[in-house]
Amino acid sequence: MADVPMPNDLEALAALLSGSGFVAADEEADELLVCAAGDVELLDSLVWRRLTGEPLAWITGSVSFCDMEVRVDPGVYVPRWQSEPLARRAVERLPSTGAAIDLCTGAGAIAKTLTTARPGARVVASDVDERAVACAGANGVEAYCGDLFSPLPRMVEGRVDVVVGVVPYVPTPALALLPRDTLAFESRLSYDGGRDGTEILRRVVAESPRFLRRGGALLLELGGEQADALAHDLARRGYVGVTTLFDGDGDVRGIEATFEEHRGRHRVDHRHA
Ligand SMILES: C[S@@+](CC[C@H](N)C(=O)[O-])C[C@H]1O[C@@H](n2cnc3c(N)ncnc32)[C@H](O)[C@@H]1O
Repeated sequence: MADVPMPNDLEALAALLSGSGFVAADEEADELLVCAAGDVELLDSLVWRRLTGEPLAWITGSVSFCDMEVRVDPGVYVPRWQSEPLARRAVERLPSTGAAIDLCTGAGAIAKTLTTARPGARVVASDVDERAVACAGANGVEAYCGDLFSPLPRMVEGRVDVVVGVVPYVPTPALALLPRDTLAFESRLSYDGGRDGTEILRRVVAESPRFLRRGGALLLELGGEQADALAHDLARRGYVGVTTLFDGDGDVRGIEATFEEHRGRHRVDHRHA
């Protein structure tokens, strides 16, 4: 089978990918052909990799996020379009010469979105995975290796306008329900949020007040019942104006909250992201 050459025209390649269960077969075929640039042997190897379920972004080396090309190295979490509204909202909350932290930055897609939109702002990012930090650096992000806030420069403490994060938030028991290829390639570290998925989210809520200025924003991606589960922690840590963000299908996609420095009245309202 390995000796059978892969089709090298768009229509036949798209048909092969579609027949193998790839939903966006036309777009993927196009990207693979562009990446191979006419090299038939290279195309063969790229298509074989894709047929194993390896993420397309690892094969082509990049993904589109918020209308930018973001480099994605093999082993690094592939930024998802579902996180784009959160990144765009973070831009809206970041003043032109402000400061922002992108936690669990992965390839640095959100930090790069912030830096691109607000070139005068200081944007720092962290990730525990050295491959992610190197990849984010290659994307022009000021990224530090370590656990959540711990590796970040102390000088940003108390001055930050936005803390944003797509941190791991899948409940451990639900990891088995992820699509088959997900954990065959991407790291469990990117997804595992502990028993109910909120372990890292709760740590971010608890540790972010040390970094945020009064009026600064906390923006976190999450799902399911997790917004409700965090409500008490947010109120206790001095967050107000807690807003649940929904996607176009009405599913919970995140929360936005404003840091007030003191224990404020907790208010929850709802808006569509
Ligand atoms: C779901 S991915 C999100 C990556 C990126 N924010 C994005 O949206 O493309 C989660 C990332 O968190 C990192 N991570 C997991 N636990 C961490 C921790 N305790 N501190 C910092 N980074 C962590 C993983 O290495 C992974 O890159």
